[in-house]
Amino acid sequence: MELVRVCIVGGGVIGLVTAWRTAQRGAEVTVVDPFPGGGAAQVAAGMLAAVTELHYGEEQLLALNLASARRYPDFAAELAEASGQQLGYRACGTLAVALDSDDRAHLRELHALQQRCGLSAQWLSGRECRRLEPLLAPGVRGGLRVDGDHQIDPRLLSRALLTACERAGVVTLRARAARLRTGSGGVAGVTLADGSELAADAVVLAAGSESGQLAGVPAECVPPVRPVKGQVLRLRMPDPAGRRPFLSRTVRAVVRGGPLYLVPRESGELVVGATSEERGWDTTVTAGGVYELLRDAHELLPGITELELVETRAGLRPCSPDNAPVLGPTPLPGLHLATGHHRNGVLLTPVTGDALAASLTDGQLPPEAAAFGAGRFTAEVTTTDIEQSRERQP
Ligand code: GLY
Repeated sequence: MELVRVCIVGGGVIGLVTAWRTAQRGAEVTVVDPFPGGGAAQVAAGMLAAVTELHYGEEQLLALNLASARRYPDFAAELAEASGQQLGYRACGTLAVALDSDDRAHLRELHALQQRCGLSAQWLSGRECRRLEPLLAPGVRGGLRVDGDHQIDPRLLSRALLTACERAGVVTLRARAARLRTGSGGVAGVTLADGSELAADAVVLAAGSESGQLAGVPAECVPPVRPVKGQVLRLRMPDPAGRRPFLSRTVRAVVRGGPLYLVPRESGELVVGATSEERGWDTTVTAGGVYELLRDAHELLPGITELELVETRAGLRPCSPDNAPVLGPTPLPGLHLATGHHRNGVLLTPVTGDALAASLTDGQLPPEAAAFGAGRFTAEVTTTDIEQSRERQP
């Protein structure tokens, strides 16, 4: 398929990686976003956690997460070269720990699931956990060492993608897309909030949790995404390059049923996250959210209260009904989706860029992403509708 003009609505990491990869295939690409390089990645911790983010029933998503994790080293090297910038990619591994017997039982279950999925994770006693991370609380009861779950700095990733896009000839419009324009053959472009029109042969909705908000999109093509709020803290660790770092790898736990993580960067930044709240478009940082994160982090690492608190922020994860991304072509010719990445947007950035570039140029998703097309929700609705209408018949 000859692709000439592609308009990408949304300039977060997903929109930008799509723009970069599509421009590399020769298309004229325009990204429309009032704040390009912004979005959920400005809040995200940047864990590349295919193994420790595994949940029951999400084995298909695991395959996509692993495919993207495998691409990360080459992707990061290529992007660093293309942008001339550092990304904060750090192959530091992750330690998931348990604070009480309930947490330990939960972690044992996760370990069993990981083993059934053929993943590499090693069970450690509390003492072994503290040998790896000496500042962990004495009460830590055990943990899982996952050497393959790494991290990247999402703010550096966004900045590098913006530069790589510019260098690849992508045009960035600091504007809000207001309406999809359609013609007899499918999409025709978008109308911007100031009334001006941008013509395009293909449009990608990649605006994170706002991807379903563009007017003019036919109902059957609107991506089923909703915002899930996450509050995140940033602290500063002393002497990150010293012989005794405060924390040398990502540490995660489930405390009182809520997931907690601490992500230490080489720069000395320590990211502590995250709440998970169904509060619509609200991005208020609340005293309760900050309190809970600090309280739980303090139980895990008592020394954390000595650190400087640098930033508190809330972001919105774009969540689909099955927590997996919604990718590729829609029933409207020329309209594509790249959203719904929920907890895995940064991890899934490389595979999404490749999948969308393929979807835009070949008209279909590559095999590793084929299960994540938008049609899976339409099909569900149709089946349910048919069953309900049968039940209603006398
Ligand atoms: N990936 C971590 C989070 O969404 O909080």
